Amino acid sequence: MKILITGGAGFIGSHTADALLDEGHEVRVLDSLEEPVHPGHRIPGYLDDRIEFVRGDVRDEGMLLGALQDRDAVYHLAAFQDYLPVFSRFFDVNVTSTALIYELIVREKLPIRKVIVASSQATLGEGLYHDADGKPLLPDIRPAEQLAQGAWEIQPPPGFRGPLRWQPTTETVANPQNQYGISKIAEEQVALHLGRRYGIPSVAMRYSIVQGPRQSFYNAYSGACRVFCLSCHQGVDPTIYEDGLQVRDFVNVHDAVAANLLVLHDARADFEMFHVGGDKAVTVMEFARTVSDIFGRRSYDPQPSGKYRFGDTRHIFSDVSKLKGLGWKPARSCEESVEAYKTWLGEAESVDRILEYCDRQMAALDVVREVDR
Ligand SMILES: NC(=O)c1ccc[n+]([C@@H]2O[C@H](COP(=O)([O-])OP(=O)(O)OC[C@H]3O[C@@H](n4cnc5c(N)ncnc54)[C@H](O)[C@@H]3O)[C@@H](O)[C@H]2O)c1
Repeated sequence: MKILITGGAGFIGSHTADALLDEGHEVRVLDSLEEPVHPGHRIPGYLDDRIEFVRGDVRDEGMLLGALQDRDAVYHLAAFQDYLPVFSRFFDVNVTSTALIYELIVREKLPIRKVIVASSQATLGEGLYHDADGKPLLPDIRPAEQLAQGAWEIQPPPGFRGPLRWQPTTETVANPQNQYGISKIAEEQVALHLGRRYGIPSVAMRYSIVQGPRQSFYNAYSGACRVFCLSCHQGVDPTIYEDGLQVRDFVNVHDAVAANLLVLHDARADFEMFHVGGDKAVTVMEFARTVSDIFGRRSYDPQPSGKYRFGDTRHIFSDVSKLKGLGWKPARSCEESVEAYKTWLGEAESVDRILEYCDRQMAALDVVREVDR
């Protein structure tokens, strides 16, 4: 097949490209080489020479139409995914570009047989909970006053009895709580509904936290793996926010790529949305231990720092049964992801510059707060 990957110079896109090339497909990438992911707007060295690379923005109709010509399938992975309060840009890049893909396919009668779009676990917000009587609820973000007191667990709203317990969350839930998650809900809806209406097989992939090499050191959203690995690399203990018992869901990039290829080939995936997660609940504290062990800091004993990030999800874990029903399952461990990331970090040009950038970014975002004592 002849395939277009938007955002194909990035983390998931470039690994997907490699796997498609290995299967004998032709790959074109449309990517604007955004900073800070691509410092100096340089084409990353890991991009395979067999890829036809087009530098351009997915919001540019002419560029997008050119890139869609003579293609059989599209992976739409380009996205704006920062924590910055430039709210409109999330919709501009993530949603309008998705609508434009369908507009061009329909208007120009392009013979594209599959569109696969990247969604995110951020569409779930705090995910599904049960109260003490087993009654389901979809909580809101935790109030600032509660967090300031160091009370981390989500409190039962009127009509529900505590304690609340997090549950694996299925694809039926949509409860986004930030601009990124809302844009991703809209992106999936555009793809699945326009796809169905115009007979263009479409699939939405809700990735959990994807881990592995090539993930930008500069992306604020790349979270715990980046931050903990950078700390350990510098000989500094990772900072644990809240009590470290937050549940997270990590998936190795090669497992995410296997899911991407499966839904390309399997018609049972058409017009469906899938969670792509690690199928294993891991606490932040456990993850910090894994990272420090791999970096050889075996005496490290993770302790809460008394700090927290306002707006963080307390617990989130995606139920991946639906995708497993098509024969996929995550095959790589968290340890393998961290090992591979460590090697990637060892090859980085300037770790000091990265840490300095991260510190500046965190200060500018003003999301890290201290518990009132
Ligand atoms: N990495 C994760 O953990 C994760 C989790 C959930 C969802 N996702 C989604 O998966 C997709 C890929 O994520 P990633 O981690 O590979 O990100 P990434 O930042 O590594 O790659 C994204 C690529 O898109 C390009 N891009 C951004 N804006 C563009 C534009 N306007 N026009 C053209 N290209 C543009 C960037 O230059 C970059 O190369 C995104 O849609 C993201 O929202 C990722």
